[in-house]
Amino acid sequence: MKGVIFNTTEDAVERPFGADGWEDTLARAEVDGSGTSLGNYDDAELTSIVGAVPDEAGGTIPDRLQWVGINCVSILLEASPHFFDGITLEDFLPALNRMIHPEVRKLYPGATPPDFNISPIDDQTISMRHVSERKLCFFAEGPTIEVASPVGQTLLIDQPSCAHDGDPHCELRIHFTA
Ligand code: HEM
Repeated sequence: MKGVIFNTTEDAVERPFGADGWEDTLARAEVDGSGTSLGNYDDAELTSIVGAVPDEAGGTIPDRLQWVGINCVSILLEASPHFFDGITLEDFLPALNRMIHPEVRKLYPGATPPDFNISPIDDQTISMRHVSERKLCFFAEGPTIEVASPVGQTLLIDQPSCAHDGDPHCELRIHFTA
């Protein structure tokens, strides 16, 4: 995973829990924290960090991954506000696949953000199939919630199939208010 995610995770933890909170997280995760934004780090380090963030971030690993996803993308969006200009989730998600993650591949050589197969099911439900080796479907729930919140959309997300349960891909089924 690219170091930029490592760096934004650091900011995400430091904002509520301070520099000590981040140092304690690294110590519990047994990770040294010396990644740079253009370098790569082992995906297993993110897993260890997620497992070690303070309990206030969530009781279960899926809750914590979602928390990291919400906070990381809010920081990425602060740095690149042009990606998000008050548009609804229905407009944003296709742009994520068509524009944002492809742009990430250019900005961060070697980055492998996920592909999503996005298809509307009805006017309040979207299916988003997460095509990635990394099994970070719960992380993906975080940015999805974060993107919907400024325009007042509330979401319910379930996963009718999930790589964690042995399915070949994860499908996020997103039900939203208009
Ligand atoms: C609804 C919005 C978004 C969703 C659901 C989403 C989802 C994800 C997920 C699940 C990953 C982990 C990699 C994987 O699963 O293989 C990821 C990686 C990444 N995303 Fe996004 N993302 C969103 C928006 C954004 C935005 C707005 C940016 C930048 C402005 C961004 C930049 C990145 C970067 C830099 C990576 C790391 C790629 C790598 O390390 O190779 N994402 N994203």
